[in-house]
Amino acid sequence: MGYKDVYGAWREDPNGFWMDAAQAIEWDKQPSKALFDAGDGQFEWFADGMVNTCWNAVDRHVENGRGEQVAIIWDSPITHTKREITYVELRNRVANLAGALRAKGVEKGDRVIIYMPMIPEALEAMLACARLGAIHSVVFGGFAAHELAVRIDDAQPKCIIAASCGMEPGRTVHYKPLLDGALAQAKHQPDFCVIFQREQEVAHLEEGRDVNWHGFQYGTEPAECVPVEGNHPAYILYTSGTTGQPKGVVRHTAGHLVALNWTMKNIYNVDPGDTFWAASDVGWVVGHSYICYAPLIHGNTTIVFEGKPVGTPDAGTFWRVISEHKVRSFFTAPTAFRAVKREDPKGEFVKKYDLSCLQTVYLAGERADPDTITWAQQQLGVPVIDHWWQTETGWAIAANPMGIEELPVKLGSPSVPMPGYDVQILDEAGHPVPAGTLGAIAIKLPLPPGTLPTLWNAEARFHKAYLEHFPGYYETGDAGMIDDEGYLYIMARTDDVINVAGHRLSTGGMEEVLASHPDVAECAVIGVADPLKGQVPMGFLCLNSGCNRPHEEVCKEAVALVRQQIGPVAAFKLCCVVDRLPKTRSGKILRATMVKIADAEEFKTPATIDDPAIIDEIRAAVRELGYAKEPA
Ligand code: COA
Ligand code: AMP
Repeated sequence: MGYKDVYGAWREDPNGFWMDAAQAIEWDKQPSKALFDAGDGQFEWFADGMVNTCWNAVDRHVENGRGEQVAIIWDSPITHTKREITYVELRNRVANLAGALRAKGVEKGDRVIIYMPMIPEALEAMLACARLGAIHSVVFGGFAAHELAVRIDDAQPKCIIAASCGMEPGRTVHYKPLLDGALAQAKHQPDFCVIFQREQEVAHLEEGRDVNWHGFQYGTEPAECVPVEGNHPAYILYTSGTTGQPKGVVRHTAGHLVALNWTMKNIYNVDPGDTFWAASDVGWVVGHSYICYAPLIHGNTTIVFEGKPVGTPDAGTFWRVISEHKVRSFFTAPTAFRAVKREDPKGEFVKKYDLSCLQTVYLAGERADPDTITWAQQQLGVPVIDHWWQTETGWAIAANPMGIEELPVKLGSPSVPMPGYDVQILDEAGHPVPAGTLGAIAIKLPLPPGTLPTLWNAEARFHKAYLEHFPGYYETGDAGMIDDEGYLYIMARTDDVINVAGHRLSTGGMEEVLASHPDVAECAVIGVADPLKGQVPMGFLCLNSGCNRPHEEVCKEAVALVRQQIGPVAAFKLCCVVDRLPKTRSGKILRATMVKIADAEEFKTPATIDDPAIIDEIRAAVRELGYAKEPA
């Protein structure tokens, strides 16, 4: 069957399609049907089944003869370490950790926050939660204490599992002080914290609250897998929205298992036993789905890579890892390839390695520019597949389904919708537009298994953010078009979200931080084009009248404030002071116009602008920052 047949089969009988896919999962109690309408635009999948994620990702492979297969390869060029963990070792380690957590009171439904770098223990912590039916929420290590505190207060965890430190090129990230700082700010306090002491840094443990990862496992019984309902939350993953308050995307257990397992063969074209590598971070959705869960559920070997595309030690690291561990499908962000290409444009490092094991490369997380795709195709000699998805969906909305059929690649397009997704382009009034016309990208409800059913503690926000604007549809927040052959093109976000080196960030969140500076009366943050990171944030500050401090000084403080409040990952370095911001007569800041000025794109001055003279003031300010340069 080709793509059209498979997509057609889903359209004809969605329930049958997903019930078939569900056969690949081992259930404690089979679900009676696939889709459950929970009312009010909310849908659940396999809700009356009983199942356990850890059983399906780990134990069943041991039972089925894969015990000696390597489950996780840890490759850490930054610490010069490599390690392999087989499925049987993983089962034992996860069962012991889960048993120790249970002995300290963690049960089904309790939340556990995980704040760890790219070490296998991060996956073990996730799986131990899944084993108990506890709901984990992994927080990315590049976030600062304040962001961690916000997530602690929202998720209200019984326990936090953290590492003593993370390793970034040239510096150690002191996780434990960040955790202590977050707990000092948070209203909610966990019952206890488990600290994994890395050999690079041994953190101080607070008596009565902190326990040592190894020590607290002595003398406890390993835990068995606890069956949970199909609609039991497996995890919460916070992602950026339009404000500083992140959205807690909820993932239900059964749909997650069924959908992710389906993608491994149909999209990524790997068979059980193959090595699959997603070079992302466990703190992001790509890390949840394709470093941890999907490869393990499908019986693959997954790689936990602690390093960077360049500098650890060189631009050949990716190729070394691929050839050494026989990676068959490789997934990364376009920004990582741009970093490699910048250092090694001619691919001298590529030539040093035998990459015959590599079958396909997948890109996601941000727009894949045609130059980067073409470069990667030429260097690697394999298909380079762009695919589009979001934290909310957990797996690809549009892709080239290599395990079904290799469709012709169209540069600039993540190809076609996957089964489960009825993708439509709508105009402002919610009407579908003709092929080739730009509009808001929406997905007809219900969304498929594995996608978000709601937001944690924020039902109303879920409706407002995703369902309200286009009744009957899920609003993706992306704008784009579909061509007459059904290929999708993702052009821009329709909200305040920007993508910095594949990291999803909220300019609204940064504005909230800048507005808290005592000298700032008003501010705006926009995302401007960057040749390496895709986008970087740029801040504009209007100072309080009477503030006559040097502008550079205030900007320096503003930059430091964002780093301290949100974290280094925000990469907020461009900041300037302006007398006023461009606004409409009704007071709305014209951010889209500011982006066009900074990116030196052609634009029409909006008819609603309060004072057109301000355009030149903004242009002068961004030129000071090295943007919108005058032609030489
Ligand atoms: N823990 C702590 N700090 C982190 C971090 C982590 N897990 N990840 C990044 N940071 C820090 C970096 O050290 C850097 O700090 P600095 O300002 O002190 O230098 C800052 O956050 C910005 O990091 P980043 O955006 O990653 O930029 P970079 O200049 O360090 O590296 C790339 C550029 C392109 C090599 C890198 O961004 C990259 O590998 N990107 C791929 C991203 C990815 O996989 N995204 C997932 C989507 S699929
Ligand atoms: P995240 O939730 O971090 O995965 O970010 C999701 C957003 O990243 C999407 O809504 C898009 O704006 C953008 N994105 C992800 N993948 C792609 C892609 N292949 N092409 C264009 N944009 C993408």
